[in-house]
Amino acid sequence: MIRIVSACALAGIVLLAAQDVSPRAQTVPAQGAKEIAKQREDLMKGIYRGYYRDMSQAAKGEGDAKLAATKATEAVAQLKKFATLFPPGSGREGAPDTRAKPEVWTKRAEFDAALDSLVKETTAFGEAAAAGNADAMKASWAKVAEACGGCHGGPSKSGGKFRFEE
Ligand code: HEC
Repeated sequence: MIRIVSACALAGIVLLAAQDVSPRAQTVPAQGAKEIAKQREDLMKGIYRGYYRDMSQAAKGEGDAKLAATKATEAVAQLKKFATLFPPGSGREGAPDTRAKPEVWTKRAEFDAALDSLVKETTAFGEAAAAGNADAMKASWAKVAEACGGCHGGPSKSGGKFRFEE
């Protein structure tokens, strides 16, 4: 696993080096890149605590389904904002601490599809919660968790397709 991750990191460095020879007209200045990377890091850090935790509780039958439905709607708004926080130049070339992998930019269609899938599953969860359908919530929650895995592993330090391991 470590080997695979470092191979990915190496591939990333090669990609970054390759990007250096291309015109940088569209890239954000380093300072802006760091700020925007911080915004998306904070958003992701807060997304479980702020929204998905209540959904997870409700899925287990321990929480408030109506609250979970509201949280699902709010989470979708957060995810739509997240999508706007990846301007070119805001990978490690501009924001050295970011955990976003170069693949976010080189495989943007796949990244967008992974995000769309989380939006879709979160919306479905919200509908199940609004209807107070416990079975549908449970089934839907499993798909939400799976959709997080489209970009990275579960534990917060884990890596994945679009996130460097910490
Ligand atoms: C479309 C891809 C994508 C999906 C889906 C996704 N994430 Fe993330 N996540 C990222 C990226 C990229 C980062 C690294 C951001 C950075 O450092 O700039 C990240 C970082 C994180 C972090 C670490 C923040 C930090 O300290 O750096 C947490 C926690 C997290 N995500 C939770 C979740 C949860 C929970 C879900 C599902 C509800 C989820 N993510 C779904 C792309 C995604």
